[in-house]
Amino acid sequence: MSLQPHGGTLINRIDFNYPLEEISKKIEIDQIALSDLELIGIGGYSPLTGFLTKKDYERVVEEMRLSDGTVWSIPVTLPVSKEEAENIEKGDRIRLDFNGETYGVITVSEKYEPDKEKEAKKVYLTDDKAHPGVKKLFSRGEIYLGGEIHLTKRKKPEHEKYTFTPSETREAFQNLGWETIVGFQTRNPVHRAHEYIQKAALETVDGLFLNPLVGETKSDDISAEIRMKSYEVLLKDYYPENRVFLGVFPAAMRYAGPREAIFHAMVRKNYGCTHFIVGRDHAGVGDYYGTYDAQKIFRNFTKEEIGIQPLLFEHSFYCKKCEGMATTKTCPHDSSCRVILSGTKVREMLRNGEVPPAEFSRPEVVQVLIEGMREKATF
Ligand code: ADX
Repeated sequence: MSLQPHGGTLINRIDFNYPLEEISKKIEIDQIALSDLELIGIGGYSPLTGFLTKKDYERVVEEMRLSDGTVWSIPVTLPVSKEEAENIEKGDRIRLDFNGETYGVITVSEKYEPDKEKEAKKVYLTDDKAHPGVKKLFSRGEIYLGGEIHLTKRKKPEHEKYTFTPSETREAFQNLGWETIVGFQTRNPVHRAHEYIQKAALETVDGLFLNPLVGETKSDDISAEIRMKSYEVLLKDYYPENRVFLGVFPAAMRYAGPREAIFHAMVRKNYGCTHFIVGRDHAGVGDYYGTYDAQKIFRNFTKEEIGIQPLLFEHSFYCKKCEGMATTKTCPHDSSCRVILSGTKVREMLRNGEVPPAEFSRPEVVQVLIEGMREKATF
């Protein structure tokens, strides 16, 4: 398996010396756009060099491909309001500001009005506004700006020690002597089921890139700050030091299930992974997606088009009879033997001061979550 970035070239749009004084127009962007700007700039979204133009956007929505045919499943767009759009012309260079500070510049090649109903149905497979990704989609501006960007400043990372560009992780993996690297996406603390599938993968590849998403998530997901502490204690006590590399993924969560699994895999390829774990209901929320839809979607593409090996795992659980982690592929016992808790149930237990069982989560991890909950008072 080669370590080619998606589309063949690792993009770098970082320009900290960009002559910003030449540019007077500016717009205030939201958290998602800020994280997308950064990920385009550092090459995480290679081959994208900017926010999608109409032709690319429409083909991504319809067919999960850019206009040149490259696989791309999530529209990376820059929405503005109708009023803002009126003052923007093709060819304009515009500063992209967040809380009044400029982080990048877009050279507008197009402004267009998207069909958001269609985007919702195609990308999220629902137009239900109760879906957090769909809700977000409709809350953003009505007009999209397409065009190449420059990243002129990086947001001060909250997890500096664990913040890397794709070229840095690629170099790190090489220095570690790893040829096969499995990427792991998560928006949760690592529980026993996650640990089980990571370690199952680690039995056959050289290294694990634990790459938790730390961009915007829905309000009831556990904060990145608490999660990072939980990863540290888990790695310290339960993983061989030289087999795991922890680095954050600054993207926002879309909760787009199957489409997001493809997107997550492509981005991890850019960070230098050769393999990517997709378990049950990857990037899902509520009951919008089938348990294994995020695995089945990979069948729509050839191996060459995807360029990273998805490692598919069944729903795993602790079996009291087996006295270990298992899946229905390896355990013959019935469901009464299984310790299965949903993320929602676990958060509820922690809020009520109940300790989830050690079969579900390592006590060191639970401790961090409980302390974090006490400090923050909410999850
Ligand atoms: S996600 O939204 O980031 O995908 P989560 O952090 O829960 O959510 O999952 C991280 C990865 O672990 C995903 O690939 C998911 O499919 C997988 N996963 C989570 N729980 C289980 C489980 N019990 N069994 C198998 N795979 C799981």
